[in-house]
Amino acid sequence: MYKIKPAEFYDIAAQVGFYGLEKGGLTGKKDYVRKYWEDIVIKSIVRSPIEKLLERKGDIRVIDLGCGSGEGFELLTHVPVSQPLNCGKQCFVLSPEQISYTGVDISDSMIQQGRKNYETRNNVQFEQADLNKGFPLKDENPFDIYFSSYSSLSHLEPEKLQRLVEEVLNHAEPPAFIVFDLLGKYSPEWPKYWSENRTVLPYNMAYLIPPELRGKESIQWFDTCYWTPSMLYDLLEAAAEKTEACIQVVQCVDRSIFVGRHMETGLFEAPCFNYRYQINRFFDRDYRGELEYLNIDLDWCVKFGKLQPQVWARLQDYKEKWNCVINLVEALLHGNDDMVSYLIETTIPDISNELKFLTWLYRNAYRFPAVDFWASVMGPQIAVILRNIEMSLGPALGCGHGLLCVVEITN
Ligand SMILES: C[S@@+](CC[C@H](N)C(=O)[O-])C[C@H]1O[C@@H](n2cnc3c(N)ncnc32)[C@H](O)[C@@H]1O
Repeated sequence: MYKIKPAEFYDIAAQVGFYGLEKGGLTGKKDYVRKYWEDIVIKSIVRSPIEKLLERKGDIRVIDLGCGSGEGFELLTHVPVSQPLNCGKQCFVLSPEQISYTGVDISDSMIQQGRKNYETRNNVQFEQADLNKGFPLKDENPFDIYFSSYSSLSHLEPEKLQRLVEEVLNHAEPPAFIVFDLLGKYSPEWPKYWSENRTVLPYNMAYLIPPELRGKESIQWFDTCYWTPSMLYDLLEAAAEKTEACIQVVQCVDRSIFVGRHMETGLFEAPCFNYRYQINRFFDRDYRGELEYLNIDLDWCVKFGKLQPQVWARLQDYKEKWNCVINLVEALLHGNDDMVSYLIETTIPDISNELKFLTWLYRNAYRFPAVDFWASVMGPQIAVILRNIEMSLGPALGCGHGLLCVVEITN
């Protein structure tokens, strides 16, 4: 397998325009799933740390580790308030003026793109640095949040990440937070890795290429690290012990379990499923979802499930809840009232309120002054419910595309 260096890959990605201020859509890097599912999971996990910091000070210093072209600035300044009905005009917890943002990335093209994207903001700056060499801004004042998103730190080998964390712990002044968003080892995108002893394994971002152009020779592979929660906790414990820092994991969750981008590529010897595209259709206000493609199928990976029973139980649990939602919507569409009652009353108690809500919504469609109720009201609500079920599944097992973890550095 021909492998490329990540920095070269990301240079090209920035140069061909994947990291501009692109708007959402059915496909692409900044598709609706990224905006309304993945970003929302990250935003909901960073909201209370931001609120906690804002109780002590008026603005927040953030360093974004592997910042790309500054996506973290947009994300952190668009975290919805926790009580939207009581907040008047305030939409977001942190305004763009309340943040001092420094993005660090190895790719010069990313840094240039970031500077271009935010040239009018003097509270946003970018530095080119290789995080494999440790924390690059030791002479700067401490930051409040050492942030990273969308697998940037999976580019570092475990020892390098540990060194980076140690240097962050030495640099930070409590209270401060570290946000990790690593690749999850037990994602159903790559079950062939579930039994691998190695942490460093090949990865690619071929999902950025349209499927018809995704020939074998056009795919650029590079090494990344795939993480389980316990591997990450061990690393944190070792780093805290070495630096004598006090830390505590605030939250650790699996992000994008069935909507990971590689579910549709089949490039890790798994079948292709276009769940993500279908969820994008739900989120879009003009398209209707195509329910026939939305039933989650895990039969093909039973043999992998035996290797990781806990992960398998979590995937089955989510699958049952997800499919129950899809079956309910199907029953509503076909006017199958017996099935609707059966699903609400006799299946999974945890989600019966969600099922009742969708049923109420559908049966009150005529009250909504929308052109296409199914596309613009029902679809987005179904997608949000499927996302919220994922968010309610409990502490991470490493079975999402992303393993998201917030750590507090305390006194
Ligand atoms: C998948 S992108 C994520 C970018 C951004 N955080 C986002 O939310 O879109 C991963 C980023 O990590 C950067 N990166 C990879 N290896 C790195 C290293 N050793 N030091 C610093 N940045 C690195 C890449 O250049 C790339 O911009």
